[in-house]
Amino acid sequence: METKDNSWVLITGASSGFGEEFARQYAGQGHPLVLVARRLDRLQALAEALRQQHRIDVVVEQVDLSSVEEVIQLHQRLHERGIAIDILINNAGHGLQGSFVDCQLDAALAMVQLDVASLTAVTHIFAQDMRKRGRGKILLVASLLAYLGMPNFAVYAAAKAYVLRLGEALHRELKQDGITVTTLCPGMSDTGFATAAHQKLTPALKQLMMQPAPVVRAGIRALQAGRINVVPGWVNKANVFFVWATPRWLHQAIFSQIMNG
Ligand SMILES: NC(=O)c1ccc[n+]([C@@H]2O[C@H](COP(=O)([O-])OP(=O)(O)OC[C@H]3O[C@@H](n4cnc5c(N)ncnc54)[C@H](OP(=O)(O)O)[C@@H]3O)[C@@H](O)[C@H]2O)c1
Repeated sequence: METKDNSWVLITGASSGFGEEFARQYAGQGHPLVLVARRLDRLQALAEALRQQHRIDVVVEQVDLSSVEEVIQLHQRLHERGIAIDILINNAGHGLQGSFVDCQLDAALAMVQLDVASLTAVTHIFAQDMRKRGRGKILLVASLLAYLGMPNFAVYAAAKAYVLRLGEALHRELKQDGITVTTLCPGMSDTGFATAAHQKLTPALKQLMMQPAPVVRAGIRALQAGRINVVPGWVNKANVFFVWATPRWLHQAIFSQIMNG
């Protein structure tokens, strides 16, 4: 018989990839869940499967997070239902591979809106509630690309560098309010990311690919332990060390080759 944990977990981007896996792993711990994304059919199918399997409450919220107005309305609806979020998994995001100058400006700005502005809004709104209650846990999903500028992923890598720095700052700033903030920096993983980003998978990237389950396990463990940051997988950890230990011209050239071929 599964043990139940009654603290609510809100997961953004729960309709696929890491978000779906976060939902499965937290459901396995007996948490009630709020699942957020745009694809309602996928959220509903996942919610139904988790209710059946784990006998937990699952609330589905179809929200386009790129609208801050919709984020505010989501928070309001949860408030009206008496749902207070204890664990926030700020995961929704997308990338875009291609030349900076050739890509559509609208597409680049939409990515900044979701990966930077919306993530900031979601964090801000739910952290205010957590501060009032004197407790809470927030996970921000950044990327290995947060550690270096990446040609043909210029805006995405810069957006994820923002997420990493935001997380580092909030980790210390919100500690006094009883809130822990952890940043998860995955490397290439087998989710819907590559398709959504129109990403070319080089042979090197295929070799480095992780499955979502161990990435999410590492994120949940680090969040639970109140760590500032986690890079899942030994190869990814070694890559971060390499970035830290070598001059920019060297690690940029090598990682650009891995990412772009
Ligand atoms: N996979 C990787 O290699 C990798 C590596 C490093 C970091 N990451 C990061 O991991 C996070 C999760 O991505 P993933 O790899 O799991 O990719 P994914 O399978 O494509 O999942 C992305 C999720 O974000 C949701 N989403 C996208 N735009 C949204 C919007 N406007 N409003 C609400 N939800 C939206 C998608 O749902 P809907 O389309 O249904 O809205 C989907 O559930 C992202 O922040 C990504 O940058 C991924």
